[in-house]
Amino acid sequence: MSRSAHPAGPRHADVLPEGHYTAPPADLNSLDPRVWAQTVERTPEGAVAVGGLDVRRLAEEFGTPAYVMDETDFRARCRAWRDAFGPDADVYYAGKAFLSRAVVRWLHEEGLNLDVCSGGELATALDAGMPAERIALHGNNKSDEEIERAVEAGVGRIVLDSFQEIARVAHTAARLGRRQPVQIRVTVGVEAHTHEFIATAHEDQKFGLALAGGGSSSEAGEGPAAEAVRRVLMLDSLELTGIHSHIGSQIFDMAGFEVSARRVVGLLTRIRDEHGVELPEIDLGGGLGIAYTPEDDPREPHEIAKALGDIVTRECEAAGLAVPRLSVEPGRAIAGPTAFTLYEVGTLKELEGLRTYVSVDGGMSDNIRTALYDAEYSVALVSRASAAEPMLSRVVGKHCESGDIVVRDAFLPADLAPGDLLAVPATGAYCRSMASNYNHALRPPVVAVRDGQARTIVRRETEEDLLRLDVG
Ligand code: LLP
Repeated sequence: MSRSAHPAGPRHADVLPEGHYTAPPADLNSLDPRVWAQTVERTPEGAVAVGGLDVRRLAEEFGTPAYVMDETDFRARCRAWRDAFGPDADVYYAGKAFLSRAVVRWLHEEGLNLDVCSGGELATALDAGMPAERIALHGNNKSDEEIERAVEAGVGRIVLDSFQEIARVAHTAARLGRRQPVQIRVTVGVEAHTHEFIATAHEDQKFGLALAGGGSSSEAGEGPAAEAVRRVLMLDSLELTGIHSHIGSQIFDMAGFEVSARRVVGLLTRIRDEHGVELPEIDLGGGLGIAYTPEDDPREPHEIAKALGDIVTRECEAAGLAVPRLSVEPGRAIAGPTAFTLYEVGTLKELEGLRTYVSVDGGMSDNIRTALYDAEYSVALVSRASAAEPMLSRVVGKHCESGDIVVRDAFLPADLAPGDLLAVPATGAYCRSMASNYNHALRPPVVAVRDGQARTIVRRETEEDLLRLDVG
């Protein structure tokens, strides 16, 4: 992720400190389409608009900070994924990226399925009318209540993550007189090149059942995963439909997915040879990266679909297996680019020889990713255009700690002033869904914009909301 320090810039040119920044963009008013949602544009007046609506009007009507989501872009991304994978595959949107009733309806209307990983996500999905058979339930420690609710609702699949869970789901399904379709989540032993906290297929972590049998080779297949298959096949209340692998998140390199696909097909072959059963499904999880800054270069859904489809087909043909139905679970790649966070500038502090600290009215409570993963974001002045020279800046929040950074290194116009509006793009995934009430901050609303209309889809928290939970 790290970029080299910029050698020179128009401001503080001789004293630029170390940082993760490149040269200031030639035009600070430009909006790079790689990081901004589809309908975002700078109007002739100089302010930025989304879905035809001026951000100044949005700030007036909905307040700041606010997540502004481009519904047109969200729906277009759903369609791009669905069309890329075609009728022989399923796209499960990963609700952990961002979920609300409106999002569930958009997914339903655009023909996507939904991956949920908690009772809360399941409740949202069912409440908003997602058909249960199009829902997959995930999680490494699903509670008995979550399992029961999912089986009772008739979810299309439960992805089993441990031996205990095999027994729990089997027991619940038997008690309810159901035969529950399940997949087994395996760990394929791939080191995904991403932040340690969001890599999930190496062996030393909590998810899934390892393909490898304690030794080094993940190809062998004589590990807990093979044992889990044996146990599930013996249980009448479970219907084993496939194998699931998710290797991590914010990944650009397709090589990890290819290894994962190859190893999962290896297990399917082994299952056929050992049990005489050909499983009809493979799920290769989510994890496809997006552009947070113009330096990031994500793959398009059609390239991803082709790469995954080709490898699964090739491996299955080589093994003499019928090609199983493929599914994927993109979360970030759908929701991430569709929203920006709109903030108002409150204070500015120029630290001579270092940078200018620009404080906005949100921070780590609405975007923890910078503090947690050292994530990089871009930022732009959106309430007006500016011809001022670039100023090396750090956009920080209003929380009581110095790690409360939203954008670590950015160039903003030197005439930036209190009251200006800034927008941080690519905050549609893992920002509202990971938001907190730290310092009793009120979590911002999500405002959906489409064709000149804006509406709140998740409202701003109020002090009454906070106090309602505080029953002491
Ligand atoms: N499927 C499974 C089983 C997952 O665990 C995840 C993400 C996904 C799909 C979706 O991955 P995506 O396509 O969104 O990368 N909070 C972190 C990301 C954690 C992802 C956890 N699992 C972040 O802010 O980067």
